[in-house]
Amino acid sequence: MTVNAQTGADFGYFEVGFEPMDALHREFHDLLAAMQQPGDEGEKLLALHEHLLRHCSQEERWMRESSFPARDCHESEHEMLLEVVAEVRRRFDAGDSEIVIRLAQELPHWFEVHANTMDAALAVHLRGLEGAAAPAGAMRAGAEEATA
Ligand SMILES: [Fe+2]
Ligand SMILES: [Fe+2]
Repeated sequence: MTVNAQTGADFGYFEVGFEPMDALHREFHDLLAAMQQPGDEGEKLLALHEHLLRHCSQEERWMRESSFPARDCHESEHEMLLEVVAEVRRRFDAGDSEIVIRLAQELPHWFEVHANTMDAALAVHLRGLEGAAAPAGAMRAGAEEATA
């Protein structure tokens, strides 16, 4: 659990029980925690955006490769998230530094819901495939690329 002195936000690690996804979620948590501290907002925002592009893209790859039934809904949430972060970057570049603090305050709450619903459902689906030889190999290959 991280408690932020500046914004008062607290949030956990969003663990969902599928280790390759949990590794992404820990990485995301650390980037969010860094954003709770003042300074270097532009660099932190860029690092967060780059992470989220990779994070969402990996989950979408897992969904495609495993024929995950709720893929469209999950991908729509990713798309909205990435649009918000891109817009925050545009506003920050235009001189609105407060927008980064607001994103740092609100993103943990949004992500807690996303992780506990969309990501958790995908994790259950992927864990189920781990028991089957061929799909598990495909999932692990994707996971290794994601964390390389
Ligand atoms: Fe995720
Ligand atoms: Fe997701």
